[in-house]
Amino acid sequence: MEIKKTWYKEMTVYQIWPRSFCDGNGDGIGDLEGVLSKLDYLKDLGIDAIWFSPLYPSPNADYGYDIADYCDISKDYGTLDLFRTVVDEAHKRGIRIIMDLVVNHTSDEHEWFIKSKDKNSPYHDYYFWRKGKDGKKPNNWKSVFEGDAWEYDPQLDEYYLHIFAKKQVDLNMDNPAVREEVKNIMRFWLDLGVDGFREDVITYISKKEGLPNGIPLPVGTGLEHYTNGPHVHEYLEEFRRDVLDHYDCFTVGEAPMMTPKLARTFITEGDNQVLNLMFHFQHMESDCFMTDWIRTPFKLRKMKKAFSTWQKEMYGDAWNALYIENHDHPRAIDRFGSRKYHKQSAKMLAVMYICQCGTPFIYQGQEIGMTNTVFRSMADFKDVVTFNNEKVCAKLGIKDDRFLKLASKATRENSRTPVQWDDSENAGFTTGTPWFPVNPNYHEINVAAEQDDPDSILNFYKKLLRFRKENEIVIYGSYKEYYPQSNELYVYEREYEGQRMLVVCSFTDKPVRFTAPEGMDLSKAKLVLQNYDVVYNSNVFLTKPYETRVYML
Ligand code: NOJ
Repeated sequence: MEIKKTWYKEMTVYQIWPRSFCDGNGDGIGDLEGVLSKLDYLKDLGIDAIWFSPLYPSPNADYGYDIADYCDISKDYGTLDLFRTVVDEAHKRGIRIIMDLVVNHTSDEHEWFIKSKDKNSPYHDYYFWRKGKDGKKPNNWKSVFEGDAWEYDPQLDEYYLHIFAKKQVDLNMDNPAVREEVKNIMRFWLDLGVDGFREDVITYISKKEGLPNGIPLPVGTGLEHYTNGPHVHEYLEEFRRDVLDHYDCFTVGEAPMMTPKLARTFITEGDNQVLNLMFHFQHMESDCFMTDWIRTPFKLRKMKKAFSTWQKEMYGDAWNALYIENHDHPRAIDRFGSRKYHKQSAKMLAVMYICQCGTPFIYQGQEIGMTNTVFRSMADFKDVVTFNNEKVCAKLGIKDDRFLKLASKATRENSRTPVQWDDSENAGFTTGTPWFPVNPNYHEINVAAEQDDPDSILNFYKKLLRFRKENEIVIYGSYKEYYPQSNELYVYEREYEGQRMLVVCSFTDKPVRFTAPEGMDLSKAKLVLQNYDVVYNSNVFLTKPYETRVYML
């Protein structure tokens, strides 16, 4: 099968959640000075692009995902000029810049929303302002972040729609003027030199006409009326045609509840393609149901099925986005790996997903094996989602210590602790007081210590990324899974232009008997990556805890 080669398929992307990356001015908040100081580190890691979670002015009801001005940089992070410098310096190092485009909603402090409160203003129709019905809210939709999806404004005697927090107001994308605004925002950043966008909950931008009641659900009643809504393809096509086609740029859309079949309608290459890649959530549900807050025991089989289905369905004319962490989930080691076998499991997880076909994304701190943190009381939490779940859980009788225990595992705040740069005070993240406490394990887990250790997770990531870059089979090879029924081993093969590669990953600390797939002779194969010393190659062996091996055949 002929696969079209493109730069975005060959890159590895590093996600920066700016608040917690690196603080350059000592105010306790990560910023662009901090980013500048770490560009050489990122270059050395071997990444090719940075995706910045929102850097824009924001009241931070959802830490930047509530935007008050789309064409500026928050004072917390620096200035537009400083951002230009970051883009230039990154480009000099061959690193591209991807911005977070959050246009399903704006902050309630955005001037469009403030103006929209005048019923006669053209901005009124930028949002979903609706009258109540029979003394009730316009429909039964529930926000996924904060209570009902409607908030009442007594002065207008109307409600506005918010799928997320109250301070994140849904934009009415059916209004052509709103779409023009979105296109102008895109042009603004592309003209400034950025290389593309990660598009936040982009499959939510088209709501069903008439906003009908939804089927009552444990989370997000109404979501069937705005997930992959009636005009989403049309609007994305318009953005592509009017803007993206005119630049050499890239897009990855965040798509909750996405299936491979539906994804193909967005990302299959050709005239109807509206996005390059999509972030789906299926493999992230291998230890939970719909949300990280409804926990279930981790099932490797579920994870493998999700990955393998996407690998198979996309191969040839669509492309996968590969990730196991981002700012919305607890750390991967604590979900799919092991604290006891910290180093081994971190390396195994890295191999497991980065050696698949697709563009890999690495979340800040993942490359050193950062873990979940410690929450001692409710006072330690800061996220609107945690507080909402506290209320939801209280209704179900899950309170106090039980809630604290659940939240400590489930909250996305686990991934938002400052990056651990060294073992000095505050992990070298800031000289001030960090806005969020540093994970207490920074004395053991930090960049400086790992730089010096040839066997570290960090140095393994560097090796792995170099390996991907130097071997087209890792980027463009086909994918075939073995032993899909195993709940302990994940084994797959890649094949490209006559070359074959076998990836073996153990997800357990127990020894598991591994047998080479029929017709494969591993004793003659070259072991190219591993997380234990392997004395000799054989076709049958007992795996070590969280072992991984990559063979070139
Ligand atoms: C998805 C983002 O990744 C998440 O952090 C945010 O809270 C919601 N979208 C709302 O913008």
